Amino acid sequence: MKIGIIGAGMIGATTARLFVDAGHDVAVSNSRGPESLRVLVSELGPRARAMTVDDAASFGDIVLLAVPWRSPEALPSPERVRGKVVIDAMNPYRPDGALVDLGDSTSSEETLKRLPGARLVKAFNTIWYKHLASRARPDLRVDERHAIFVAGDDEEAKRVVMQLIEQIGFAPVATGNLRDGGRLQQPGSAVYNKPMTGADAVRAVQQAK
Ligand SMILES: NC(=O)c1ccc[n+]([C@@H]2O[C@H](COP(=O)([O-])OP(=O)(O)OC[C@H]3O[C@@H](n4cnc5c(N)ncnc54)[C@H](OP(=O)(O)O)[C@@H]3O)[C@@H](O)[C@H]2O)c1
Repeated sequence: MKIGIIGAGMIGATTARLFVDAGHDVAVSNSRGPESLRVLVSELGPRARAMTVDDAASFGDIVLLAVPWRSPEALPSPERVRGKVVIDAMNPYRPDGALVDLGDSTSSEETLKRLPGARLVKAFNTIWYKHLASRARPDLRVDERHAIFVAGDDEEAKRVVMQLIEQIGFAPVATGNLRDGGRLQQPGSAVYNKPMTGADAVRAVQQAK
């Protein structure tokens, strides 16, 4: 697959490495432009290229959002991702580390308002980038691997993202739709940044529900 990655920091660069290693083609992007990503792209190898945010979004069959949630200007134009599977890995932190008060809403519901028509799937937001970088175990049975939680309203899009997670060596665990599953994946929840196997994660989701 072709995967466009928006943001090339801790999460963007780590997912890029995992996707390339699994045989996918990636385009990485950031706020400073493709020139600033030359070193990262050469480290990632021939399956990687650097683009502007909008071009990386157009490039991807799948687009992963890994920029600060509080910066909507970091996102691609909505028309670039309309109808595409878009992974929201973002969490709604303020610069001081506190959470943005979203009232009754959740961050991915708000992301979907910013990118109407995207087939939004919330995933990769609960795992610390160092665990993401070091705990891929394609050799293990799926339920023994480190869990990555997945929420969304589009079942087919969710299936695509879960397959991708499995391919890169983790255990995809569904939490539900964007609203309720998304809430379960928020900072401070029972599964947020809590390393666990796929089997334990399924139990944790059942308990939390
Ligand atoms: N770190 C983690 O372990 C972790 C885990 C799960 C989820 N997350 C979430 O993932 C997202 C990214 O976190 P991170 O830790 O990877 O952050 P990071 O290392 O600070 O990287 C942020 C990236 O976003 C880019 N960016 C910032 N403002 C931008 C703009 N206006 N336009 C385009 N690109 C912009 C930055 O580009 P420049 O460098 O060019 O400014 C950088 O590539 C956050 O929402 C975070 O909550 C992080």
